This record gives sequence, C-alpha cells and structure tokens, in this order.
Amino acid sequence: MNIGLLGGSFDPFHKGHETLIDGALKSGIVDAVIVIPSGRNPFKSGRTVSAAPYRFFMAKNAVEEDFKGRNVFVSDIELTYAGTSFTLTTIKEISKVSYIRTFLKANGVKESQADENHSFFWISGSDILPTFEKWHKADEIVKIAGLLIASRPGDGVDIDEQTERLENIFGFVPDIEVFEIDGIEVASSDMRSKNDFSDAPKTVREFIKTHDLYPVSNPLDLVSDETVEKFNEDAIKLYRFLGEKRLLHTLNVGILSVRYAGIYDKNLCDRALIAGELHDCAKELDEHQQMEMAYERAGDTFTEKKIVHSPAGAVMAQREFDVTDPGILDAITYHTTGRGNMTLLDKIVYLADKLEPSRTYADLSKERELALTDIDAALKLCVKSVKKKFDSRGQQIHLLTVDLMNELGI
Ligand SMILES: [Fe+2]
Ligand SMILES: [Fe+2]
Repeated sequence: MNIGLLGGSFDPFHKGHETLIDGALKSGIVDAVIVIPSGRNPFKSGRTVSAAPYRFFMAKNAVEEDFKGRNVFVSDIELTYAGTSFTLTTIKEISKVSYIRTFLKANGVKESQADENHSFFWISGSDILPTFEKWHKADEIVKIAGLLIASRPGDGVDIDEQTERLENIFGFVPDIEVFEIDGIEVASSDMRSKNDFSDAPKTVREFIKTHDLYPVSNPLDLVSDETVEKFNEDAIKLYRFLGEKRLLHTLNVGILSVRYAGIYDKNLCDRALIAGELHDCAKELDEHQQMEMAYERAGDTFTEKKIVHSPAGAVMAQREFDVTDPGILDAITYHTTGRGNMTLLDKIVYLADKLEPSRTYADLSKERELALTDIDAALKLCVKSVKKKFDSRGQQIHLLTVDLMNELGI
C-alpha cells in the first residue's frame, strides 16, 4: 500500500486536518492515511502544547467518527516510543515491518494487504518546502518517505522550483507528489487564542468542552516549567497503565488541583499538579498487585477492592514516577477515604477527584462553585453526599472517613 503519514500536535485536531486527509485519499496517491499526534515535541515547550494523551484521544475520536469505513487510522507510536519525536525517528519506527503490519491488521486492514511492502509519504502543506532542508536530517527523511504536498491555489509556492532547489541541496531528486485542495486555512493556535472552535469537528468540540481543555485562565501558568515538563512526561507514561477515560480523568484532576492550589496556597501549585495527576495511577494494575502495594504502604488500613488503589498509587508514584515528596504521597494515599486532620493538599486532591470537569455522576454545580471560595465547606458537602450514598446502600463507612466526618461535624 501507499501510506500517507500526517504528523502534528493536533492541539486541537480541526477541519483543516480533515481536508488534508480527505484530499490525500482522493488524490489516489495514497491508499491509507495514518494520523500521528506528537508525543515529546522537540520544538514546542510543554507549556504551549496540551499533554499528549489529550491530543491523541481527541484526534482518535474525531477520525473514528468522521472517517468511518475509510482507511484513516490514528497511531499512538509517539506515546509508546521512548525518545523525542523527530519526524525521521517517527517514520523509521512506523515503517518497521513488525510495527506497520500489526498496526494495520489491528485497525481492520485485510491481512493480505497489511502484509504487503508499503511505501510511505509524509503529508504536509506546501509551506514546508521553502525551508524543508532545515528539518532534522531532512535528506534522510526523503530517502525513506516521499513528500505528499497539498497545494492550495494561490499559495505562492512553485513546486517544480522547490523540487529543483532541494535536488541541488540533497544531490538527488526527492520524491515529491502533489495534490490540490481548496477550502479555508485553519490554524490550531488561532482557534486557541480566539477561543473559537467552530472550525473543529463536532467530536473535538465536545471533547474540549468535556475536559475544559482550553480554559480562559490556564492553571498551568501557575506551575514551574520543570513541573509542567514532568506532568507531560508522566502523562505519556500513564498511557501505558490507564485506559482513555481514567487517564484523561487523572490529568483533569491534576489541572483542577492546581486551580484550587492557586486559590488557597500558591506555593502548593507544583505539588498539587503531580499529586492530582498520579492519584489513580495504580487503579488498573491487577488486583493482587494493588493489594500487595497497599499493604506495603499502609498495612491493613486499606483492604477493600475499591480503595486499595489509593495507597497502591503512592507506592507506584514512588517506583514508577520518582515521587519522594511525603505530602504528595499522602494526598494520593488518602484520596479515596479522606482522613482526620487532612492537609490542604489532601483536601485539594480529594475535591478535584470528585469535581474535575468530565465528572457527570451527579449535578455538581453547587460543590464546584463552593470549591472555588470555601474549600472546607465544599469538602463537607462532598463528604455528606458520600455518607448518603453509603447509607443508602447499607455499606460501612471506612474508619478514616468516620474520623473526617466527626471533625466536620457530619
Ligand atoms: Fe481513585
Ligand atoms: Fe480518581
């Protein structure tokens, strides 16, 4: 097969990307397109781009909805590959026979087709050509993949002239194929700065809303560069351990925790981000493993299936994510039960877990509002509803939660 590769940040994925994919397929030059959201982008700092799992799932959901039944797939290779995402390394990794055949089959391509020898094309707008030689190892890129260039009428790039120019630089004729597209140019950065997502597909607009992905005031502005980097790196690592829903939930909890820390104690912002992000990291490990880790952290204090992931999470945060801060480890340990004498960080993570934007288990508007002005009152309200839920099911309340209830006068 001829396979087009479309890499990018996709922050957010938008209709311009869809026009490119559609144009590439209709040109007949490629039989399939693989969309590759970037992982660790060497040219964008962590602050300017949303954590990789957000961008990956946003693109995946949109492609699955809008290209149903067509050969368009989304690859997570940049989330599973250990290094920095240079175009060359990505093309090398994806074109490996062992990867591409398995990937295509997993995406429903017939075995006979998936097992063919494939040719690869890097899809892009014509604007890359005038400076393409400056890309990291540009000559090597065009040795293993052609360039599939979308040309817009009046875009001012003369493809023949550029091909000749690149030939003079590289010493060989690069394979440059062209297809025409029309339609408006859309830029993700404009959409974000104008806070106008009308040029994004419906699934993307819903995704942005569900996760409050581009808030007007971004809590991450309160966090140091170093911690934002750690947050992004941990987010990529968490992809190995958690499914879509829970992974996005934990990232949301990290960010909401920063928002609360920004209100109650700015010095806690960095720690709140990491504690929130990792609070559920152990939840999808096998149960036996969770039990063992919970015992290691807290002896017999946590034994129930639903809550062992919290002390287990503290152990995992230490082992897998190099967290040593005792306050962060405590906030993770007690995020399910709470405890007497909760620290501010404990309270922040406990509340953010219950109130992050994708939570829809009840009408939380009152709790959400209160959490922005009076954290103890919000805590009381949340613990009250926990009590109500337990009472209605006739379930016993954990002793640590009883301590907290006594303290709050519930
Ligand atoms: Fe949890
Ligand atoms: Fe959670």
